[in-house]
Amino acid sequence: MRIFVDCDPGIDDAVALAYLTARPEVEIVGVGTVFGNHTVDTTTDNALRLLRLYGAPGVPVARGAERPLVQPPTLAESVHGANGLGGIDLPAAETGPAAESAAEALVRLARSAPGEIDVLAVGPLTNIALALSLEPRLPEMVGRVVVMGGAVRAPGNVTPWAEANTANDPEAAEAVFAAGFDLTLVALDITMKTTVDAAWLDGLQLIDGERAATTSAFLEFYVGWYSEVIGERGCAMHDPLAAAVLLDPDLVTASVDVPVRVELQGRHTRGLTIADLRPGAAAAEDPRPSVRLVTEVDSGTFLKRMADSLRQG
Ligand code: BDR
Ligand code: CA
Repeated sequence: MRIFVDCDPGIDDAVALAYLTARPEVEIVGVGTVFGNHTVDTTTDNALRLLRLYGAPGVPVARGAERPLVQPPTLAESVHGANGLGGIDLPAAETGPAAESAAEALVRLARSAPGEIDVLAVGPLTNIALALSLEPRLPEMVGRVVVMGGAVRAPGNVTPWAEANTANDPEAAEAVFAAGFDLTLVALDITMKTTVDAAWLDGLQLIDGERAATTSAFLEFYVGWYSEVIGERGCAMHDPLAAAVLLDPDLVTASVDVPVRVELQGRHTRGLTIADLRPGAAAAEDPRPSVRLVTEVDSGTFLKRMADSLRQG
């Protein structure tokens, strides 16, 4: 399985990289970085350091967008820490980023192996939108695309209605959802129902090795922030769940195919993701292509596989 990962590490992005790098059948053909949880310079440096930590130092990293298509950027230091990784200082990588941008890397890879490369997008969708402008046939040239983003029936996490990755670049998300990719959306609707609890976090601390110990240290900061939100020790695992849905589609136990739009105008609702979920609503009459919105997963198996991915190394 060949995967291009577009991300903004970011603590849950880090756990998603751990999930992918633990699986022998996965070849990460490239990592694109984007502003979001931190500046793109920091997310790029973090991606390089994380790939070294997780035993994949040879994966090329392409620096992507430093700002959204239209609005000014905002960062999330309160959630992910001053360095985007909970203040944990990882050893520097031995290599730097590639000369090409993330969008250029994705287009080059897609053209070189049409239909063979899947995309995991777990940051603002700016790089994917830029890749679409470089290559409008991109939806036909990649395999599955799994996006972590949006909040359809769930509350938002950066505004009352909007999820961070969508709110960070609503125009990019709108372009990507309209483009006709074979796209699965892992939104807050499912990630906020698939949280880890104190027992899972305590279990992680019992796993030997650098991989688990360092990931556990990242998570301490994240859990500090999340525990306030969910009212007990625990946290959401947004990006690893998207990675798991790409690798293990059998984890999805219910989904609905619907066109999804992003609100671009609303004074209070900019970045909101809208899907017509009324019973009997005819998606077939909507000219916009549908995306697959995940509504239920096998959370027990996901949580076990996520812990297993941290056992090695
Ligand atoms: C998403 O926003 C980022 O903070 C996380 O890394 C995740 O991709 C959750 O809304
Ligand atoms: Ca992310």
